[in-house]
Amino acid sequence: MSAVTFLTPITEEIKLVEERMRAQAEAAHPDLRAALEHLLKSGGKRIRPTLGLLVGSLFGAPLEKLVTLGAAVELLHTATLVHDDLIDGALLRRGTPTLNARWAPPATVLTGDFLFARAAKLAAETDHLPLMNLFGETLSVIVNGELTQMFTSRGLINRDNYYKRIYAKTASLFEMTARAAVMVSPAGEEASEAMRDFGYQLGMAFQIVDDVLDFTGDQTSVGKPLGSDLHNGLVTLPAIYYAEAHPTDPHILSLPNGGWANNENMVELINQIRASGFARQAMQEASARIDRALTQLEKFEPCAERDALENLAKYFVDRKV
Ligand code: IPE
Ligand code: IPE
Ligand code: MG
Ligand code: MG
Repeated sequence: MSAVTFLTPITEEIKLVEERMRAQAEAAHPDLRAALEHLLKSGGKRIRPTLGLLVGSLFGAPLEKLVTLGAAVELLHTATLVHDDLIDGALLRRGTPTLNARWAPPATVLTGDFLFARAAKLAAETDHLPLMNLFGETLSVIVNGELTQMFTSRGLINRDNYYKRIYAKTASLFEMTARAAVMVSPAGEEASEAMRDFGYQLGMAFQIVDDVLDFTGDQTSVGKPLGSDLHNGLVTLPAIYYAEAHPTDPHILSLPNGGWANNENMVELINQIRASGFARQAMQEASARIDRALTQLEKFEPCAERDALENLAKYFVDRKV
């Protein structure tokens, strides 16, 4: 399945989100504006605004609010990527050089801050206090998760810790998007809880797939450096499964003691994991989460938006990008 299948019903709406995002660069310093335009032009799947637009449409939310929410969420996502690439020292994203590949850290940090600020302003423009509250709460979950990962999770082989990490850094934003889209609609608590879980499961699956692609993806399609998680000390699901099956592998034993910093050993370990079936096993876990998400959708009457959400959910595990 291609990305087009889920985008088709809302191509025009996504264009409105893009316009709304681009408008945020106006009135910025010319260098900042050029950087923002480069970032916004560089693409991205726009999967979070797609989720918000489809969930909101399913429950009859006004388009204007969904466009504002979509732009807020995507700018927040973009801001986290700007900071994440700086922190990870990643030089490539969406097939083009990252901001930190060209700019010094101070300018990169401030560009991320500007994006966070604009995202918050857009969230306020939905004119919905509980939504703004949720938005702020989610941003703090993401940042706290990144700090926890940095200080205490490097080299840690622990499944519970992994799930907490991927919730904080990724699933929380998908969950928020789906909840917020219901908030601006006339639907009630039942829809909100079902869509919260829908967004949560999608988000968890999304990060598991991202972590699998880090081992098995095609660098050109993915457009960002692969094989980098273990080198950064991030022990993700395929590596955790491998470690559970090979507890005495010397490279595995070295991880909690900082062994992830040894480049040569990590290249070997990555190749061992690639050759094992554990990436596939992790994909099965992602698929199980998508199945769980689909059962939430079944609570609602079939319609075009529900079909589109179903296709979107399936795309989460089919994607190669
Ligand atoms: C990348 O997100 C960061 C993760 C949470 C894995 P996406 O894969 O949605 O990035 P873009 O926006 O499409 O480039
Ligand atoms: C990124 O996670 C999540 C956030 C930016 C909060 P990753 O570090 O796995 O994302 P990629 O792989 O760089 O896109
Ligand atoms: Mg990264
Ligand atoms: Mg990644």
